[in-house]
Amino acid sequence: MEPCILVTGGAGFIGSNFIRTRLQESQGSVITVDKGTYAAGPNNLTGLTDDGRHRLVAGDIADRTLMRELLQEHRPAAVINFAAETHVDRSIVFPEEFVQANVMGTFNLLDEVRHYWDGLAGAEKDGFRFLQVSTDEVYGSLPLDEAPCDEQKVFAPNSPYAASKAAADQFVRAFHRTYGLPTQIARCCNNYGPYQHPEKLIPLMIHKALREEPLPIYGDGRQIRDWLYVGDHCAALRRIIARGRAGEVYNISARAERTNLQVVGAICAVLDEAYPRKSGSYGELIAYVADRPGHDRRYALDSSKLVGEVGWRAVESFESGLAKTVRWYLTNIEWVTAVADGGAYREWMTVNYSQRR
Ligand code: TYD
Repeated sequence: MEPCILVTGGAGFIGSNFIRTRLQESQGSVITVDKGTYAAGPNNLTGLTDDGRHRLVAGDIADRTLMRELLQEHRPAAVINFAAETHVDRSIVFPEEFVQANVMGTFNLLDEVRHYWDGLAGAEKDGFRFLQVSTDEVYGSLPLDEAPCDEQKVFAPNSPYAASKAAADQFVRAFHRTYGLPTQIARCCNNYGPYQHPEKLIPLMIHKALREEPLPIYGDGRQIRDWLYVGDHCAALRRIIARGRAGEVYNISARAERTNLQVVGAICAVLDEAYPRKSGSYGELIAYVADRPGHDRRYALDSSKLVGEVGWRAVESFESGLAKTVRWYLTNIEWVTAVADGGAYREWMTVNYSQRR
């Protein structure tokens, strides 16, 4: 029988994509724990909640009693921690929430997992993995003339979000060194794809373009992000658990660096083809707005270690992944509308964009 895994934050963007493919590719069961914040789309797990191999539990990873009970009851072979507050702009407005969710949440989860793992024996104990889903933002902003960061790069987080993820990564490392817990850390670049909340650049721009609203570019729009299709990210995570070494960090990137203006231009070009406006191009909606404070200029990751050790390669190019993503949003307008018409989203739009004009 294939083993059970425990996925935290599984109702969010990357977590829900991960669970979907995991249930397709494996016979094993999945226990999802999710706090159900605004970031957990109400329909992200549609079709999976009635799969007999999947159980969704509403709860917080910092709830130690709940986590202890779930670990004892289901005895997972791996825990994958996707649970996090992830939006940089929100972290600037509400930094404390990020410390609670990302630092305290990860610490409490780690400590419960450590006790559970201590009670395992033999192959179950040796094969166990705790995988922390982290981010390239812990390395800070990379100068234009520098090579992409490898896993040795010294941390230099610049936003409260990045600082909270860096702190969580340090605890994950310390739990391996101190207690021997077989942890792994995956640091991925910017993701995009189905089920991403429309507060993030790519879905935000698709959503606004379809509503004929201005497309807000922060600052000069020449900031660079390294983009990875979420399906490729999830495939890398599955391989890290299956083949990666304990105590290691793996960067994940398909080396697709683009400026924000290039990304938005590409979205507009796909939409011009797939869903033309009555007149003109979507590019005409681009509007420059005040920059994000402390805005990192460039992220770029070197993932040769991952490629060499576990044999992962991305399937999608930026162009093919983006075309797929735009198609998904066009055919799932009701999903986007359900998120965007909610009070929390409208409130955030006012908080974040009203002072930027
Ligand atoms: P985002 O999707 O928030 O991811 P991150 O900040 O984690 O990289 O933003 C991606 C880039 O897009 C980032 O440089 C900020 C920029 N951006 C805009 O220009 N306008 C927007 O409305 C948003 C949300 C982001």
